[in-house]
Amino acid sequence: MEYRKVIIDQLYQALEETLTTDEIAGLLEIPKNSDHGDVAFPCFVLAKQFRQAPQKIAEDLVSKIKDPSIDAVTAIGPYVNFSLNRDIFAELVFSEMLEQGNAYGDWQIGDGRHVPIDMSSPNIAKPMSMGHLRSTVIGNAIANLMAKTGYAPVKINHLGDWGTQFGKLIVAYKKWGSEEAVKADPISELLRLYVKFHEEAETNEELDEEGRHWFKELEDGNQEAHDLWEWFKNESLKEFNRIYHLLGIEFDSYHGEAFYNDKMSEVVDLLEEKGLLTNNRGADIVDLEKYGLNPALIRKSDGATLYITRDLAAAIYRKRTYDFAQSLYVVGNEQANHFRQLKAVLKEMGYDWSDDMHHIPFGLITLNGKKLSTRKGKVVLLEKVLGEAVSLAKDQIEAKNPDLANKEEVASAVGIGAVVFHDLKNDRLNNFDFSLAEVVQFEGETGPYVQYTHARAKSILRKAEKLTVGRKDIVLDDDYSWAVVRLLEKYPETVKLASEKFEPSVIAKYTIALAQAFNKYYANSRILEEDDALYARLQLVQHTASVLKDGLKLLGVKAPNEM
Ligand code: ARG
Repeated sequence: MEYRKVIIDQLYQALEETLTTDEIAGLLEIPKNSDHGDVAFPCFVLAKQFRQAPQKIAEDLVSKIKDPSIDAVTAIGPYVNFSLNRDIFAELVFSEMLEQGNAYGDWQIGDGRHVPIDMSSPNIAKPMSMGHLRSTVIGNAIANLMAKTGYAPVKINHLGDWGTQFGKLIVAYKKWGSEEAVKADPISELLRLYVKFHEEAETNEELDEEGRHWFKELEDGNQEAHDLWEWFKNESLKEFNRIYHLLGIEFDSYHGEAFYNDKMSEVVDLLEEKGLLTNNRGADIVDLEKYGLNPALIRKSDGATLYITRDLAAAIYRKRTYDFAQSLYVVGNEQANHFRQLKAVLKEMGYDWSDDMHHIPFGLITLNGKKLSTRKGKVVLLEKVLGEAVSLAKDQIEAKNPDLANKEEVASAVGIGAVVFHDLKNDRLNNFDFSLAEVVQFEGETGPYVQYTHARAKSILRKAEKLTVGRKDIVLDDDYSWAVVRLLEKYPETVKLASEKFEPSVIAKYTIALAQAFNKYYANSRILEEDDALYARLQLVQHTASVLKDGLKLLGVKAPNEM
């Protein structure tokens, strides 16, 4: 930003080029105590060179600095502290925002290069868990952040649609299932069959053998097995899509594990060629001792491939297809070891691009203090949670703004937005408890609070249309507007930080801070007064609205104009 350049330039000259502008930039700090000004420059590093106490250096520098955009320069101990001219600063920030419009906060870091993001990836014939929900919303927000920083994200739903469990499911269906029952309630019924299989298998040893047999049939292309598998998959997808639709999230690819069936033999051949496979009681493994990891099991003794074999094929496929800059996997922390093994095997194969693969783990959600399991009954949960959030939001709207025109639409934006925001506002690795009543609050650090603040700003702007705006220079001299301006200026660097850390919570926390600062300003000023500063105040309102909206959009949360 402009104002930093001014300060850096002033220091550069005052220091008679002892430090480079980059070095100065790296040293600038923001004082914790706002009474100490807006920017601080520590003089410790210069003490040796100047053979002077840093306090003395600070005092000398103060006398050499003068610029209209700096209101005051003071030495506080070993620091030079700068107070910026608020009007000039606000003017700089606002004009940049006006010029850039929706592109404010955009970066060109990614050079348009692809970043596949492996996200959501639920398992067919099983309910989508809270963990998959987290992966979906975190992955989606990261995709938005990558796009905002100049990458081309590719959202991939790596469906769990292959593996020995499908052999078992086919057996169970043939023995105890029916078409009608699956059609009526696909996931519950398929889960029931799967659970039944395991119960029966405890006393009937032949069942497991049959399961293995049918999985082999499936892998070998048996028509009946294939048709059943495909049907199970389509029925499951219908249910998953209902949830994606509610969340407003789309994918660029649904290539799940099964897609890599015909791509695994190449992987096994490559491993063989490179001499990486060792035989362990009939099974093929890659030794990873030098990485401090357990061996990776690539192929079982009956020739069946595994989860990691499919992930190896997928990683190579993604590199070939997208020539990715980075390849991301948004998957729960409990799979950390799997991804370490995956990267290590690729590294052993000589693929240095495995360094560009990042597992992006996240913590567990508990529900009202209890750990969630994917057992039967929890199936409905996810959709139910979202549905209940919408109806709670509707109650709130009914109470606050009964005449609102598009209540249904707003209730869904607020209810769903609340759940998504709640998921994203905590550092992603934190475990957290989910209580619906808390999530849908219009107050506190919630999504609805941020949405409500955005709607408030929009409503001020609608009212302002009837007023006459006089002078167009920026005059903002109170502390409340100053806090808002400083936050608006920070948006681009906040976006960059969130994107580099793959951490949507950075954006969520920022929108909360901006909403809070704006609401303080709102409570302490008369915005719609026809005086000389009206233009400046409306600019502040308008830019706050657009940054709140953009921040929410990055998180995958809608910002209604009225609520
Ligand atoms: N289907 C897996 C599960 O639910 C997640 C897949 C994650 N992605 C991957 N490429 N392994 O546990």
